[in-house]
Amino acid sequence: MISKKVQKVLNDQIKEEMGSAYLYFSMSNWFHTQNLHGFAGWLQHQAKEELEHALKIYGYLHDQNSSAELKALEAPQKTWKSPLAAFQDTYKHEQHITGLINNIADTAIAEKDHATGVFINWFVSEQVEEEAAALAVLEKLKLIGDHPGGIYLLDREMGARA
Ligand SMILES: [Fe+2]
Ligand SMILES: [Fe+2]
Repeated sequence: MISKKVQKVLNDQIKEEMGSAYLYFSMSNWFHTQNLHGFAGWLQHQAKEELEHALKIYGYLHDQNSSAELKALEAPQKTWKSPLAAFQDTYKHEQHITGLINNIADTAIAEKDHATGVFINWFVSEQVEEEAAALAVLEKLKLIGDHPGGIYLLDREMGARA
């Protein structure tokens, strides 16, 4: 059994993970329109991971004999001014998600809810990976600057992920 407070932060996080998926699908779509299909594939893969994060929490709520509350999602941003701008947003977004995950961990501690504490630890570690992955791409894009050849090569490298 989990408390109302824990139920609330977990349900809020389902929306955040779905929102992350929505954002990355939208970015993936934009990269396709820029003929950067490697970036697009990378972001689509990322979007699927975010859906899995939402499903993990959904499953946990049911394991705890609770119920998931699916909230309305806002439409994501549709265009970016450059690949760099998109990955600045990705990195910022992952930092925002890390803050929310940390808040769930804090709530679990405050509620003396050890099961949720253990459950959310997977997400704490996952966020370290997520921030590192976004930052690695962002740093490469900074290095490349406005050189189309560099963008072309990075697009090929990103395409190897899928
Ligand atoms: Fe996530
Ligand atoms: Fe993420």
